[in-house]
Amino acid sequence: MRYGFLAAAWLAACASSPAGAADCNRQAFASCQACHALTTDAGQKPGPQLVGIAGRPVAGDPSFDYSPQLQAARANGDRWTRERLDTFLSDPQALYPGTWMGSPPIRDAKQRADLLCVLDRP
Ligand code: HEC
Repeated sequence: MRYGFLAAAWLAACASSPAGAADCNRQAFASCQACHALTTDAGQKPGPQLVGIAGRPVAGDPSFDYSPQLQAARANGDRWTRERLDTFLSDPQALYPGTWMGSPPIRDAKQRADLLCVLDRP
């Protein structure tokens, strides 16, 4: 009985505190921050806000004026799965040729994994 209670308390504790962005290497996002915010109240930036980007439709920030390429991807029903985010970050122009995101490809898989950790749990 006692152990059952402890197990339940432990499970409840885990459920109420899922791994947060604090567990990610937030430093990975430093180079993105000039253009992107992970909140909706950061004001205008050169790029769209990335709140809840994992699972969001492509070109999903209603207040951002996207390139024709990303708008077409949205019309096509594309969503930001983890795989698509990973592919995009490894080479934005290869996935969506002509995208206005001018930041360089991230070839380092560990760096992309760190970024996905931050993007998945803002
Ligand atoms: C120099 C500015 C700049 C930097 C730096 C930059 N981005 Fe972007 N990003 C943009 C712009 C502009 C767009 C919109 C592209 C378009 O409309 O084609 C964009 C789009 C995106 C999108 C798609 C958003 C959506 O709503 O569909 C993601 C995801 C993204 N960036 C992630 C990142 C990450 C992660 C980094 C850091 C490694 C980064 N970006 C660095 C400017 C930037």
